[in-house]
Amino acid sequence: RRSVKIAPSILSADFADFGREIRAIEDQGADWVHVDVMDGHFVPNLTFGPPAVKAFRRHVKTVMDVHLMIAPVDPYIEAYAEAGADILTAHVEAGPHIHRTLQAIRGAGMKAGVALNPGTPASAVAHVLDLADLVCVMTVNPGFGGQSFIDMTGKIAELHAIIGDRPVHIEIDGGVDPKTAPKVVAAGADVLVAGSAVFKGGSVDDPEVYGRNIRAI
Ligand code: DX5
Ligand code: ZN
Repeated sequence: RRSVKIAPSILSADFADFGREIRAIEDQGADWVHVDVMDGHFVPNLTFGPPAVKAFRRHVKTVMDVHLMIAPVDPYIEAYAEAGADILTAHVEAGPHIHRTLQAIRGAGMKAGVALNPGTPASAVAHVLDLADLVCVMTVNPGFGGQSFIDMTGKIAELHAIIGDRPVHIEIDGGVDPKTAPKVVAAGADVLVAGSAVFKGGSVDDPEVYGRNIRAI
């Protein structure tokens, strides 16, 4: 079970205190730190861009997992490499050339991820799996934290089968909590993003709550 990684999303953290929030979740057992970049265009919400991500980098000791919910992606790849992203994930729906985008992400020295909205079939990534280190299955429509889980276990199982023995993570993002996590892990997921479920009930002044929440997932 502990080969499953937990990647808390700092979208649910205190935006005035990112440095302490990142340290708190890492001290409490987070495996990766998930950073949600939104552009107010690909998704109806706006978060942060390369300068903020570069500032987060100074605090992240584990793995900085950057999820781009932006379109287009390609003009910004270099900026996120420069900001220190370890993994950069682009949506397959963000443009017509995901193959080129994944090549460019690896070419810039990062691990490459490809994300799928709930309405997009597993087959959309079937021909780019050799260019990807991670497939992110969205279990909410992206844009906001705290939405309810959309069951995508069929899609996760299908991806698990088409990935076969390639070294590609299956990451689940949206509505992951202690109730939904076991289902997605049983279907083949090995990285769980969780925003509200990690930060709820806690505060950066009392990080033990985060630890309990992380362990409960
Ligand atoms: C949704 C983001 C998620 C979000 C998850 O657009 O990509 O990473 O923060 O939040 P919860 O876990 O609250 O659904
Ligand atoms: Zn995300």
